[in-house]
Amino acid sequence: MKRVFSGVQPSGHLTLGNYLGAVRRWADVDQHRADALFCVVDLHALTVEHDPARLRRLSRQTATLLLACGLDPEVCTLFVQSHVGEHTRLSYVLECVATDGEMRRMVQYKEKAVRQQERGAGVRLSLLTYPVLMAADILAYSTEEVPVGEDQKQHVELARDIAERFNQRYGHTFVVPRATLPAVGARVMNLQEPTSKMGKSDLSGPGVVRILDEPEAVRRKVMRAVTDSGQDVVHDRVERPGAANLLDILAACTGEEPEKLAAGYPGYGPLKEDVAEAVVELLRPVRERHAELSADPAYVDGVLRAGAERARGMARPVVDAAYRAIGLLPQA
Ligand code: TRP
Repeated sequence: MKRVFSGVQPSGHLTLGNYLGAVRRWADVDQHRADALFCVVDLHALTVEHDPARLRRLSRQTATLLLACGLDPEVCTLFVQSHVGEHTRLSYVLECVATDGEMRRMVQYKEKAVRQQERGAGVRLSLLTYPVLMAADILAYSTEEVPVGEDQKQHVELARDIAERFNQRYGHTFVVPRATLPAVGARVMNLQEPTSKMGKSDLSGPGVVRILDEPEAVRRKVMRAVTDSGQDVVHDRVERPGAANLLDILAACTGEEPEKLAAGYPGYGPLKEDVAEAVVELLRPVRERHAELSADPAYVDGVLRAGAERARGMARPVVDAAYRAIGLLPQA
C-alpha cells in the first residue's frame, strides 16, 4: 500500500473549505486505499503570533473534528506533531541540506512575513525554516503521496528537492514524495470574497462557514453570500465567481455537475436556499459526532496517544538512518 501523509494546522476552526477540499477525501478515499497518516501540525502553528491557551484548545478540537469527519483510528494513524520528537530531530539535519536562498524563495514565507511585519510583530525565524520542518514531517515516514492544496505544492516540491539532494550526497535514505492535488472544483471560496479561498485563519467571519457552525449561522452566511451582477444563474468561475462558488459547493454536496445545476435555477434566491440546506445536512452528522466525541476526551486522548506511538515507530528508523548517513556518531 502507498504511504500517504498530510497535515493540518490548528490555526483556526476547520471550515467547509477544509472539509470539501481535503478532509472528506482523506476519510472517504485516502485512508482506505493507502497506509495513511494525518497529523495535527501544532509546531507549525507557532510560526506566527499565537495564544498558548487557544492553540491547545484548537489542537484538541482539530483532532476531534478529524475523527468526527470520519478518520478512523483503526484504519489510519492520527496524531499530534509535537508528540513525536522525530519531526524536530529530522528537521535539524535537513536544515543542513536546505539552503537559505531556497527558504527565502517560498511564496508563503514572503506573504506571511510581510503580514507579520505590518502588524509590528517581528518575523519569527521558524516562519523561514517552516518548510524544512514540513519536509521532515513528510520524509520521516517514507511518504510517497502528499494530498495538499495548490498553496502547499511549492513546499512539497522543496521536500522532493531536499530528499533527492540528501540521497545523492549521503546515500539513499529517503523516499522522494509527490503532491497530489484535489479535484478541480474542490476549492471552496470565501462567500464574501469569492476570489480568495475560504481559509480557517481568515478572520472575516461572515464569508467563512465553519464545520461547527450552528445551522442558523450556516444559513445566514450562505443567504448573505455576494453574488454577481446579472440575475441569471450561470457557472463561470472567471466572470461570475460568486455564483460559481455557490454552484461548486452545491455540486460537491450533491455529486452533480455545477453546470447542470446552474440550468435549474431561475435566480440566486432559490439557489442560496438549496445551498444552505445542502450544507446544513452535509455538516449535521459531523457536528453530532463531534459533540459525542468532545463529551469523551479520554477517548480522544487515547486515540492520539496510540497514534503518536505508531507514528514514532515508523519515523524512528528513518530518522536514525538519516543521522547515520550524514555522519553523526551512533549512540553505543
Ligand atoms: N503546511 C501545511 C499547511 O499549512 C500543513 C502541513 C504541515 C503539511 N506539514 C505537512 C501538509 C506535511 C502536508 C504534509 O496547510
